[in-house]
Amino acid sequence: MVYIYLPIIMCYCMQVHISSVGQDKMRITWITKASTKPIVYFTETAGVYQNSVLGTSSSYNYMTYKSDEIHEAVISPLKPDTHYFYRCGENSTKEYFLKTPPAEFPIKFAVSDAHMFSIFHIHTILLNFQCIHNAGDLGQTEWTNSTLQHISQSNYDMLLLPGDLAYADFLQSLWDSFGRLVEPLASKRPWMVTQGNHEVEKFPLFHKEPFTAYNARWRMPFEESGSTTNLYYSFDVAGVHVIMLGSYTDFDFESPQYKWLEADLRKVDRKVTPWTVVIIHAPWYNSNTAHQGEKESDDMKKSMEVLIFLARVDIVFAGHVHAYERFTRVYNGNQDNCAPVYINIGDGGNREGLATSYENPKPSISVFREASFGHGELDVVNATHALWTWHRNQDDQPIVSDSVWLRSHSSNPICT
Ligand SMILES: *[C@@H]1O[C@H](CO)[C@@H](O)[C@H](O)[C@H]1NC(C)=O
Ligand SMILES: *[C@@H]1O[C@H](CO)[C@@H](O)[C@H](O)[C@H]1NC(C)=O
Ligand SMILES: *[C@@H]1O[C@H](CO)[C@@H](O)[C@H](O)[C@H]1NC(C)=O
Ligand SMILES: [Fe+2]
Repeated sequence: MVYIYLPIIMCYCMQVHISSVGQDKMRITWITKASTKPIVYFTETAGVYQNSVLGTSSSYNYMTYKSDEIHEAVISPLKPDTHYFYRCGENSTKEYFLKTPPAEFPIKFAVSDAHMFSIFHIHTILLNFQCIHNAGDLGQTEWTNSTLQHISQSNYDMLLLPGDLAYADFLQSLWDSFGRLVEPLASKRPWMVTQGNHEVEKFPLFHKEPFTAYNARWRMPFEESGSTTNLYYSFDVAGVHVIMLGSYTDFDFESPQYKWLEADLRKVDRKVTPWTVVIIHAPWYNSNTAHQGEKESDDMKKSMEVLIFLARVDIVFAGHVHAYERFTRVYNGNQDNCAPVYINIGDGGNREGLATSYENPKPSISVFREASFGHGELDVVNATHALWTWHRNQDDQPIVSDSVWLRSHSSNPICT
């Protein structure tokens, strides 16, 4: 294995990840040691950079830690389903490329929590203060057998990530190694995330503000959907309305999040977005013995389940429990054909291992449950049909282990 360390001065562009900001814009986020002009050059044609956008830079403090410079710039206008080359920072020669999501069906989402990445942290911490040449990166060698590799093979348009990103848990340098680790994928396709418990990072007496690193490093397009916080937001992509909820911020009837969700659901036009998908972290339905009785699951469900049921949300994805489980369409504990399908996909692989113990007998609303590492793919083929597949990691192959065709509620006259 060969590592190529470049002098820090040449690291113009590190930890690059991108996120969609509406139909024709993409936010490019990257980090540098030294302050630099937050400029992004982009082009559809290789080599000739006609366009540039000047963004903003920031940094944050966490107890005695001061972050490196975090830069972001929103590039536009972009065509749908199109490849672009880009470079970030002045004088940088490193070329990245991305593909924008399609404007129409079909669209393919990869769905996984990020637990999978944390198992590689141990290898990357030491490299944190170096600039590593992409081709010889230890991380990449490790990935060949990982969930991450399987996701990259799936040719997805956008990744939906239901929280628990870096598993930094107060150790801020882990955010950097995480950023470096996911860059090969997160710089190519938009990664749309919401927060998990490992992003809170409040520290009694010393750091009272939650989500400091998460908000600074993983800014999502929240203003665009009328949200006042990075902790919950929504967006439309192709014909899908995606709602990212915050399991670790207030969700009771009186809360700003509840009021925002109510208003957001009211605005959904099923002619424009026949599908609606919700992402949370702590699952509302779960027959694993792990993470039972948590208020983020039980109380949030009590507060918000009726809203998303009446709005005919099609699917609710959750993470948190380190296993895979798919429920039938459920409302208030019972099967209901106009309710969402609940899918827990917290099995990306993490240092805490799998959650292998289940409630028995299996509740009738639970269709498929298995404690194996894997990831999911949601292929929304048209306004009425979507194929959900769960890919278990086995023998270095992503095996399709659970697969189901779903019909949109908007195409079911009984539910409209
Ligand atoms: C980029 O190059 C220009 C011209 O060579 C130089 O003046 C400037 O300082 C460089 N910027 C950085 C961030 O190195
Ligand atoms: C994955 O790991 C196995 C055993 O550790 C090895 O034989 C195989 O070559 C690896 N696959 C890739 C693509 O590196
Ligand atoms: C939508 O896709 C499904 C599954 O491929 C197919 O059976 C159906 O005919 C399609 N509907 C339209 C309107 O194309
Ligand atoms: Fe979690």
